[in-house]
Amino acid sequence: MQQRQIGPFNVSAIGLGCMNLSHAYGQPISAEQGERLLLAALDAGVTLFDTAALYGFGTNETLVGRVLKPHRQKITLASKGGVAGVPFADGIKRVIDGRPEALQRNCEDSLRRLQTEVIDLYYLHRWDKTVPIEDSMGALADLVKAGKVRAIGLSEVSAVTLRRAHAVHPIAAVQTEYSLWTRNPEIAVLNACRELGAAFVAFSPVARGFLCDSPLDLAALDAKDIRRSMPRFEPANYAANLGLMPAYLALAHEAGCSPAQLALAWLLHKSSSIVPIPGTTNVDHLADDLGASDVTLAPDLLARLEGLINQQTVHGARYGAQSAGEVDTEFF
Ligand SMILES: NC(=O)c1ccc[n+]([C@@H]2O[C@H](COP(=O)([O-])OP(=O)(O)OC[C@H]3O[C@@H](n4cnc5c(N)ncnc54)[C@H](OP(=O)(O)O)[C@@H]3O)[C@@H](O)[C@H]2O)c1
Repeated sequence: MQQRQIGPFNVSAIGLGCMNLSHAYGQPISAEQGERLLLAALDAGVTLFDTAALYGFGTNETLVGRVLKPHRQKITLASKGGVAGVPFADGIKRVIDGRPEALQRNCEDSLRRLQTEVIDLYYLHRWDKTVPIEDSMGALADLVKAGKVRAIGLSEVSAVTLRRAHAVHPIAAVQTEYSLWTRNPEIAVLNACRELGAAFVAFSPVARGFLCDSPLDLAALDAKDIRRSMPRFEPANYAANLGLMPAYLALAHEAGCSPAQLALAWLLHKSSSIVPIPGTTNVDHLADDLGASDVTLAPDLLARLEGLINQQTVHGARYGAQSAGEVDTEFF
């Protein structure tokens, strides 16, 4: 597998998004299946593993920590704080809290669940707009000084917020949604990353399953599947988006790769400082995704691909109102 650089870490060019093992797209898979998937990723040469306090309200970090503990020295372990599960009378709720004391607590909880002394790359999962970014960054910089975190990242921030944060402490990586159908980082964030020397970690790189070989059956999605609240997956929009697929599948065929590999290879070709982190619960899909590292795309095919799938040709916004309100002004 190709290697890429994130701050001080040399990592596999494709990392593993671990969220899917516990959270987001239906019921979590069993611990045994999760373990099998994590070990298959290790065997295949993946060295970047991405989790968060939020995923499964800690259960994802617990799984990742347990399975990867014997391999800790060989991997780059990334987690996130600032969004976590908080107990309320009627159950646990997801809360964005970027106050220094909350970040300190989140990090301590993550270290315990991950069974490690230090988290390599620790992201602020969302900028809490009620807290100046400088205050949240001050807390993260203190975690670096205390030896609990090696490098700091941000998720879903604008270029303006990134620059303010970087003035407090160097930012090693920005993690944000980026794929053929979500191009927001092209407005300003990718340029700011290049200028500041931060890597860009692309989440949801295969468009949450859309840019893959078989269409999703929307009616069969689990009641808790987060795609149910995403405008692009509303039935009318999704049907219109599926209209793009025959031409997309033809481009994958022309490139000699699978549809998911085409989506990932496009990201790898955009810049050598981009690291996609696809998520999967399926070892065959994992092998398919990692194969993108060996795909070469000709410039004219890249141009046709970008013309085919982009924010103008796709129907529906990427997020519904609530999630859209939590990101940073869609990235100026
Ligand atoms: N920072 C943030 O706010 C944030 C937000 C979202 C996600 N993330 C991170 O990014 C990671 C990936 O994002 P994501 O899971 O939302 O989106 P994604 O990787 O674009 O898509 C995941 C979906 O695609 C399917 N899939 C993956 N590879 C496939 C293949 N080769 N063939 C067929 N289907 C395939 C998976 O289903 P199967 O399980 O059936 O393979 C899953 O439903 C997450 O795990 C998480 O670590 C971060």
